Amino acid sequence: MATFPLNPHFHQHQALSPTLQINERVQQLWAKGQTVYHFGFGESRFPVQPRVLAALQSNAQRKEYLPVQGLPALREVIASYYGRFLPTPISPQQVIIAPGSKAMLFALLMALDGDLLLPTPSWVSYAPQAKLLAKPVYFIPASVVDGYTLTIENLHKTAQYTGSTSKILIINSPNNPTGRMLTSDFLQDLAAYCRQNGILVISDEIYGRVVDGHSPHISLAQYYPEGTIILGGLSKHLSLGGWRLGQAILPATMTGLMPVLVSIASEIWTSASTPVQYAALEAYSGHPEIEAYITDCARLHGLRTQHIWSWLVELGILCAQPHGAFYMMPNFDRWRERLAERDVTTSAELAHFLLDEYQLALLPGSAFAVPATELSLRLATSFVDMETDEKAEAMLATWQAQPDEAIMTSHHPVTQKAIEQFQKLIVELEG
Ligand SMILES: Cc1ncc(COP(=O)(O)O)c(C=O)c1O
Repeated sequence: MATFPLNPHFHQHQALSPTLQINERVQQLWAKGQTVYHFGFGESRFPVQPRVLAALQSNAQRKEYLPVQGLPALREVIASYYGRFLPTPISPQQVIIAPGSKAMLFALLMALDGDLLLPTPSWVSYAPQAKLLAKPVYFIPASVVDGYTLTIENLHKTAQYTGSTSKILIINSPNNPTGRMLTSDFLQDLAAYCRQNGILVISDEIYGRVVDGHSPHISLAQYYPEGTIILGGLSKHLSLGGWRLGQAILPATMTGLMPVLVSIASEIWTSASTPVQYAALEAYSGHPEIEAYITDCARLHGLRTQHIWSWLVELGILCAQPHGAFYMMPNFDRWRERLAERDVTTSAELAHFLLDEYQLALLPGSAFAVPATELSLRLATSFVDMETDEKAEAMLATWQAQPDEAIMTSHHPVTQKAIEQFQKLIVELEG
């Protein structure tokens, strides 16, 4: 059966993605005992919050399936939790639980007809998910010079090309890969535009609670409740990616969508893990200790990210200032000619060059749907100096004992060395 036909949409993705190529290369170098400063790995690594851990432990004996839409008590807790951030109350009927927001997104794309509009840069899984479902994707261009800002003008130009009258836009703020956040003014304009043009928006707010304090996270649902689906979950602000719990909150008026989603979920995952759903009751309880933990982790991510960003900017690297998540997207177009002399003309080549010559592992911008020849890379700050559970634990404990920015000097030796590597790189490119 060696030639049995594969799903043609999946077949297109068989080539090893640039992201995986870099990660594989890092593993090879590590296996040889070489130093690599790994800025490719985007996973929050703080220890599990004790109350949430205890909740999971005390529910480990639960083995029954739960209702497909999710544990009713959890849907209630999530509804009131989101009600804190939104002007209109959320009903538990609008909430559906999934094994991760990624699976939730896939079910949504399966349930909804229409073309997909994706702002660039775009998180690595949006377009592949759409392609697996044979859903047309239209990328909204953005300019590196203004930090990849999404504009209504570019959205409008792209929306005009689409073949279908039904259009779905995915927004992601705070953003992976840029760390940028959409402003309240922009969200109001976006709400007006989408309302006028009947565009449904999936608002990926998985990093909604990983913000550095510069400005609050605002959901588009605040201004466009009737046309915004909110995606969220435990993965980022609680460092619980492996627990696989996410959810969607549907607009109150889209009553036809929930039964379709429940039907898809019943055919694919039945229900998210039962012990994890019970533990999520605690995670979404709003308990002061959990809220303090979330704030502390977000503050540390913010400090670490700002520290590296400031250094890159100091070195003359173009990089929009991140204010959320744990990413940024530095651009090296300024050294295009010097890099071309070293046979580096694409972001994928640049990523390999930085890894081979400077031990700096970053992901190519092309993996995030920016043009391959634009020399942008995604830098994730979540891993370096938190390589082991022990280091991540010590980092948080030190901060909790005394929240002091001096932690950037006392607990960040690897970050410091990595910054020196960037300095060397720029000296060489300038020389
Ligand atoms: C932008 C974005 N959306 C969604 C996800 C998926 O999160 P999960 O499936 O763990 O809820 C991620 C994870 O990396 C992400 O970066």
